[in-house]
Amino acid sequence: MITLTVDLGERSYPIYIGNALLGQTELLKQHIPGNSALIVSNETVAPLYLEKTQSMLSGLRHEAVILPDGEKYKNLEVLNQIYDSLLRNHFDRNTTVIALGGGVVGDMAGFAAASYQRGVHLIQIPTTLLSQVDSSVGGKTGVNHALGKNMIGAFYQPRAVIADIDTLDTLPDRELSAGIAEIIKYGLINNVEFFAWLEQNMQALRERDKAALSYAIEFSCQAKADIVAADERESGKRALLNLGHTFGHAIENAMGYGEWLHGEAIGAGMCMAAIMSNQIGWMNDKETQRTVDLIAQAGLPTRAPGSMTTEKFLKLMSVDKKVLDGVLRLVLMKGIGQAVVTSDYQAEDLNRAIEQAIAD
Ligand SMILES: NC(=O)c1ccc[n+]([C@@H]2O[C@H](COP(=O)([O-])OP(=O)(O)OC[C@H]3O[C@@H](n4cnc5c(N)ncnc54)[C@H](O)[C@@H]3O)[C@@H](O)[C@H]2O)c1
Ligand SMILES: [Zn+2]
Repeated sequence: MITLTVDLGERSYPIYIGNALLGQTELLKQHIPGNSALIVSNETVAPLYLEKTQSMLSGLRHEAVILPDGEKYKNLEVLNQIYDSLLRNHFDRNTTVIALGGGVVGDMAGFAAASYQRGVHLIQIPTTLLSQVDSSVGGKTGVNHALGKNMIGAFYQPRAVIADIDTLDTLPDRELSAGIAEIIKYGLINNVEFFAWLEQNMQALRERDKAALSYAIEFSCQAKADIVAADERESGKRALLNLGHTFGHAIENAMGYGEWLHGEAIGAGMCMAAIMSNQIGWMNDKETQRTVDLIAQAGLPTRAPGSMTTEKFLKLMSVDKKVLDGVLRLVLMKGIGQAVVTSDYQAEDLNRAIEQAIAD
């Protein structure tokens, strides 16, 4: 087992990464201060891992709430089911919410924990690759609104993250690729060596080689932990983690949540960021091609859906949170491993990049 730390002063917390972590009672219990816990999971993950998780809670009063599965249920109405369960069970302020599932469950359970009685304890047990390398770390929680993704939420840090690599055995291939999108992102942001490692090891990752997965998860969590520790509430550097996301969120929103997976939209979004960086003379042809190739090798789309238009993109992108004081800030690249947050581009540059990125 590897233990990393997200360094946030007295709110610091460990990330445990390893095999067979589910079932290790003390690993979980040491992070539960009170005597009650609510497990939040969904109808796909619960049959696989709920029993094991419950077995780690012996001696505590615990309940489970099982949500419907899917991004389209990441909304206020379904969130209410978590509050219902907390209230019906008379869980008090010292209770612990345990998120058992992918990023959707993690974001919803996290926001419930942040807001129930103004905040109860939270532990993340991410079971998708995407949630293990990204969403469970860093404290962003929330739900979607019909008018925009993740528009309602809070920053709320967990007490621990337990990433059991064995849970990835049951993950569908498409979801595995979606997780790899966020892993590629860390290489593109600030580490060209890691990007090169991914070029060498993409096949091993897709074949679920445990050593390769373990290294990629560890590297990614450390990269995210470092960025979060430097800028918890995204006033600067943390915005780099949005590479590909302003484009990607527009795709997710336009297609209807759940049609394209989050990671798939981010794959296409990172290609768009690379193409635009290339068009404005920042990223050379070779690195742009390497970026598109690696995303394709990961089994991810490299173009935006053909049903999208430039107008639709621009409208949806301006709803995205990255608009600060009316200026749409994008994460672009000066090269692989050299991402920057910028509004230093012309409107026509953006239009041209979008036009080129939409599939024929
Ligand atoms: N909070 C953050 O910082 C942050 C960062 C990135 C993404 N996100 C959010 O995360 C969400 C995407 O997360 P995701 O990709 O994990 O999607 P997800 O939670 O929808 O999970 C993907 C699918 O895999 C299933 N599943 C989960 N674990 C499984 C397992 N071990 N075996 C078999 N099936 C399993 C789920 O039930 C679901 O059907 C989006 O809502 C996105 O906005 C949040
Ligand atoms: Zn993401």
